[in-house]
Amino acid sequence: MTEGGTTKPAAGVHDARRFRSALGWFTTGVAVVTTRVPGGEAIGITVNSFSSVSLDPPLVLWCLDKKSDTLAAFEAASHFTVNVLREDHREISSRLSRKGDHSLAGLAVIERENGCPALLEALAHFECEIEARHDAGDHVIMIGRVLAFDCAEDGRPLLYHRGGYQMLPPL
Ligand SMILES: Cc1cc2nc3c(=O)[nH]c(=O)nc-3n(C[C@H](O)[C@H](O)[C@H](O)COP(=O)(O)O)c2cc1C
Repeated sequence: MTEGGTTKPAAGVHDARRFRSALGWFTTGVAVVTTRVPGGEAIGITVNSFSSVSLDPPLVLWCLDKKSDTLAAFEAASHFTVNVLREDHREISSRLSRKGDHSLAGLAVIERENGCPALLEALAHFECEIEARHDAGDHVIMIGRVLAFDCAEDGRPLLYHRGGYQMLPPL
């Protein structure tokens, strides 16, 4: 394999640091997944593992670290909403990726039909009912059936690339 002009042997998959580094070349958007703990507080977690799965039926997925403080909430929840972040949402992304701070207090949110709060300024919302949870190594794959969605007419997404935030180049 060539890297920066030099040839390096393929890294073994036990090389966790290089595995993360290789995955980091896959540039993604950033989303906040929100839910409401049954009878309780609204929470959100920053993710970049969001992906579309199926158009008919409309299914999406994201992956949750089993070590996350939010695991119990998402295991108990029946619904979640995926909020796609704008490039000026870095602060929200950082806040909701901090351990022990997943409250949405002080953020502009609206209640949606699936009972989960949605971030008002997000580029797109996907309101989901949890269709399935699949055990997958150190993560749980959360599959959501999209009950409703909306999206902005224009805007610019926040990107995540090699462990840091990025933006699309100017038009
Ligand atoms: C850009 C970005 C993407 C992330 N993607 C995921 C993800 O897909 N799944 C996940 O479980 N955690 C992801 N995290 C970490 C979570 O946001 C999480 O909040 C963090 O692990 C804090 O620990 P806690 O969940 O135990 O509070 C991501 C963090 C950032 C900054």
